[in-house]
Amino acid sequence: MQSLSSKANSSNDKLNPAFSTKDGRVRIYQEDVIAFLKSLPDESVDLITTDPAYSGMNQMLQLGRGKIIGVYKEKGQNDSKWFDEFHDTPENYHVFLSECKRVLKNDRHIYIMFDSFSLLSLAPIVREVFDIKNLLCWDKVNIGMGHYFRRRHEFILFASKGKRKINSRSIPDIWQIKRVTRAPYPTQKPTEVFQVMLRASAEPGYVVCDPFVGSGSSAIATLQEGCKFIGCDISDKSIEVCSSRISEFIEMGKDPLQTKSLIVDEHIINKVLLNGKSIKD
Ligand SMILES: C[S@@+](CC[C@H](N)C(=O)[O-])C[C@H]1O[C@@H](n2cnc3c(N)ncnc32)[C@H](O)[C@@H]1O
Repeated sequence: MQSLSSKANSSNDKLNPAFSTKDGRVRIYQEDVIAFLKSLPDESVDLITTDPAYSGMNQMLQLGRGKIIGVYKEKGQNDSKWFDEFHDTPENYHVFLSECKRVLKNDRHIYIMFDSFSLLSLAPIVREVFDIKNLLCWDKVNIGMGHYFRRRHEFILFASKGKRKINSRSIPDIWQIKRVTRAPYPTQKPTEVFQVMLRASAEPGYVVCDPFVGSGSSAIATLQEGCKFIGCDISDKSIEVCSSRISEFIEMGKDPLQTKSLIVDEHIINKVLLNGKSIKD
């Protein structure tokens, strides 16, 4: 049902997906985020949910050690990094956001994930481009690494292009969802983080875009919510991992990289995921 092309696009080629499903529900490109977004037509996506790779500004500001989650190296290899980091200079970040705005339809939403350091340096640029509506907090429940206070959360900026309400008034701005542990892709996020975004902002058949796909958690959540997915990632490993994950999910109906729910927030489970407005209805 699915096809995986092994070759990345060269910059002069018209973009071809590295992975796609025959029914067109999922298209993933192996590409740099800016080149990918520039290849999309104006106002062609309904929702952006994304978790960028940050680092540059953090190093410049010398807040922490720059690498927030650790050094992404494949086990046993000293020089082979899992992925390059997006060069998140203010200029590049502005171009990234402007492209997001161009491809997003009017009266639609965008969710951008941030660690504390990138939030300090880059979030003000989001305000120049989009209308920021909320600063959401993903509470990972258990503490992680940290040189001083140990990290337990990440932020999610929720913003709009134009005017649009969310689908439910029952969603708090803090979401308690545990981390994925022993993930084959080092920055794999729980699918529920994206699922809550979709419950709030998607309708059936929406085209959801994530230009930093990683392991494909946003794509799995998108399929679970009855929407279509388009995305990209620059890394070979990401394309390999997300392609086989999505194929298996479609064929077997199960997510091979997250076999159990990680959400512990009873309010969200009861009021949003079970009794809230279901976009599948
Ligand atoms: C934080 S991870 C995303 C993790 C994803 N949300 C998940 O759940 O697996 C960021 C991703 O951005 C990708 N990336 C880094 N630089 C990029 C670039 N210039 N263009 C596109 N993707 C890039 C990395 O390969 C990495 O997979």
